[in-house]
Amino acid sequence: MVIQKNISLKRYNTFGVDYNAKYFVEINEKNDLIKLHQKKLFKEEKKLILSGGSNILFTKDYDGIVIKNNIKGQEVINEDNDFIFLKIGAGECWHEIVLKCVENNWGGIENLSLIPGNSGTAPMQNIGAYGVEIKETFINLEAFDISTGKIINFNKKQCEFDYRESVFKNEKKDKFIIINITLRLNKNPKVNIEYGDIKKTLSKKNIKYPTIKDVSDAVIEIRQSKLPDPKIIGNSGSFFKNPIVSNKFLNKILHDHPNIVHYKISNSKSKIAAGWLIEKAGWKGVTKNNYGVHKHQALVLVNYGGANGKEIFELSSLIIKDVKSKFGITLEREVNII
Ligand code: EPU
Repeated sequence: MVIQKNISLKRYNTFGVDYNAKYFVEINEKNDLIKLHQKKLFKEEKKLILSGGSNILFTKDYDGIVIKNNIKGQEVINEDNDFIFLKIGAGECWHEIVLKCVENNWGGIENLSLIPGNSGTAPMQNIGAYGVEIKETFINLEAFDISTGKIINFNKKQCEFDYRESVFKNEKKDKFIIINITLRLNKNPKVNIEYGDIKKTLSKKNIKYPTIKDVSDAVIEIRQSKLPDPKIIGNSGSFFKNPIVSNKFLNKILHDHPNIVHYKISNSKSKIAAGWLIEKAGWKGVTKNNYGVHKHQALVLVNYGGANGKEIFELSSLIIKDVKSKFGITLEREVNII
């Protein structure tokens, strides 16, 4: 474990913006965390935990220590007739874990194929796509308490999962480093193909009784058609959350905009497609110099190469202001702004 000085963060964030970290250290095992915790520098400096760097936008140099979590490991820790309990190191690439589960016919996360980033950050924002969230297979995680140096276990309830939310984005923000997570996967998978795009893709291929491999393939196809590959065009997936509004407010807005894309989530609340709002406000595909709004999915901001984080952030502020003035809805950023 070596603490480096003045390191460019460009290759450590999927937006590909170029800022420096005052200090930078890579963690490969639990023990590295214990060693790091004993360092004076660790106690004194501001800290930022980075994993896949796929949900973050740097807008300036980081004046502290960036801790890159590379802790690996995959282990079946328990098994019964119905389930496999898989413990996964925080630094394992999420999509590779999904592919491994699909290959073994362990069901539950196939709808979450091709989500960028690593496994340890997946529960932080309760990753979700195509009708499934990680909380549905999640059992527990182990995390390092930055202030005490102790390793703490969090069960599902303690993680306080919600739409794109967990306790690690709120009350426990910046207080823990996730070491590993454990998921419970189904040995007799039941596929979830309720999401419209999945249904359409499967029927186009004439698949009537899909396996989890079929579902994973469909999700990969859909994502590749709509979402830019961060290896080619810098981005962080959805930049904004889909706003949740009261049904009373929704009815009011439906009066002026009867086609607004929305989903009822309870008797009192609905979710509105932020991509629809941004597109209708005229931002889809808008390009400014070398950055802009993705042409196939208005929720995604992109860096075509060489843009800086401040510019991208300012673009997001313009979008928020415009959507607010046109629809009366305040969009929230999903990406962490540093
Ligand atoms: N829509 C538009 N214009 C757009 C984008 C979307 O009109 O530019 C409307 C369309 O009617 C579309 C609907 O919104 O049918 C939903 O769009 P999509 O299926 O692309 O999903 P989303 O709500 O825009 C969310 C997640 C994605 C996830 C997809 C699929 C959030 C913030 N985003 O997007 O997550 O892949 O659903 O489940 O909840 C991510 O978090 O990085 C991400 C990509």
